[in-house]
Amino acid sequence: MADFSNVSRTIDMNGPNESKRDWERMAEGWKKWHAKFSRQSSEATKAILDLAQVKEGMTVLDLACGSGEPSLSIARAVGPRGRVVATDIAPGMLKIAETNARDEGLSNIEFKPANAEAIPFPDGSYDAVTCRFGLMFFPNPEKAMGEIRRVLKIGGVVALVTWGPIEKNPRFTTTAAIVEKYRRMSKVEERASDADVFRFAEIGSMTKILSEARFGEISEKQIIVPWIWDGSVEEQFKSFSEMSAPFRKLYSEVNRGCQQKITAEILAAMGEYYDGRRVNFTAVINTAAAKKIVK
Ligand SMILES: C[S@@+](CC[C@H](N)C(=O)[O-])C[C@H]1O[C@@H](n2cnc3c(N)ncnc32)[C@H](O)[C@@H]1O
Repeated sequence: MADFSNVSRTIDMNGPNESKRDWERMAEGWKKWHAKFSRQSSEATKAILDLAQVKEGMTVLDLACGSGEPSLSIARAVGPRGRVVATDIAPGMLKIAETNARDEGLSNIEFKPANAEAIPFPDGSYDAVTCRFGLMFFPNPEKAMGEIRRVLKIGGVVALVTWGPIEKNPRFTTTAAIVEKYRRMSKVEERASDADVFRFAEIGSMTKILSEARFGEISEKQIIVPWIWDGSVEEQFKSFSEMSAPFRKLYSEVNRGCQQKITAEILAAMGEYYDGRRVNFTAVINTAAAKKIVK
């Protein structure tokens, strides 16, 4: 069994400014792969829409929207009487999300740059707040929870999706875990981290910060979903390396001389999931929902 103990600590992002800059650099990749990645992650989108109980006419805030999911799916679901505010700390990401919305002809969605730890909107303005694969990148997720609660109406719902454990996610075992093995061989010094991809991988970790922020009716569970890449292993690896800011950072830390060997190892590992047309990954994700019950 491979040792994943160190990977979660090294796939990290430090502080909002660094995080913003690092994600900004990935914007082109998100633009290029948006359609395919939206299909690959469609079950995670469905899960967050269900958790947020998205219905026609609702006003929803999506945090850390990246290239536009789940914001765009929510905009379709709330319809013309509803409204979505899609936000992200990286303006480059938001621009892509905005172009994607325009291409689809969606007119009930607006885009605003926002740090989830200092949400620039008034108290009690949303029926639901969603955040898919964003929470783990906030240096102070407790602060973000307080902000989310503040901008929700009484009775409003927060819905969150994060990654489950690395060892249950071939997307990472076939990539980051292999790079980490080489990184350790190159004896790169450990970095202290205040945010990492698997920070909320343990069931109960989101419940803890939700209850500390005085949310009620908290539910949290781990689910397994298809995570199919409709293309070759080479393309899956290329898209992953062009979209994942933490992976890019990790990869840049290994000895350049090893990179060809690493790529070959990654492609061979992904090959185990390839059926000649698609890379048949599954993903284990954690989902949580809670309500603002009192002021
Ligand atoms: C893995 S992407 C997720 C994008 C999208 N929600 C999805 O599920 O495809 C993480 C996003 O979090 C954003 N982000 C990182 N730190 C943030 C912060 N403090 N506030 C708001 N967004 C942040 C990044 O710019 C990036 O777009």
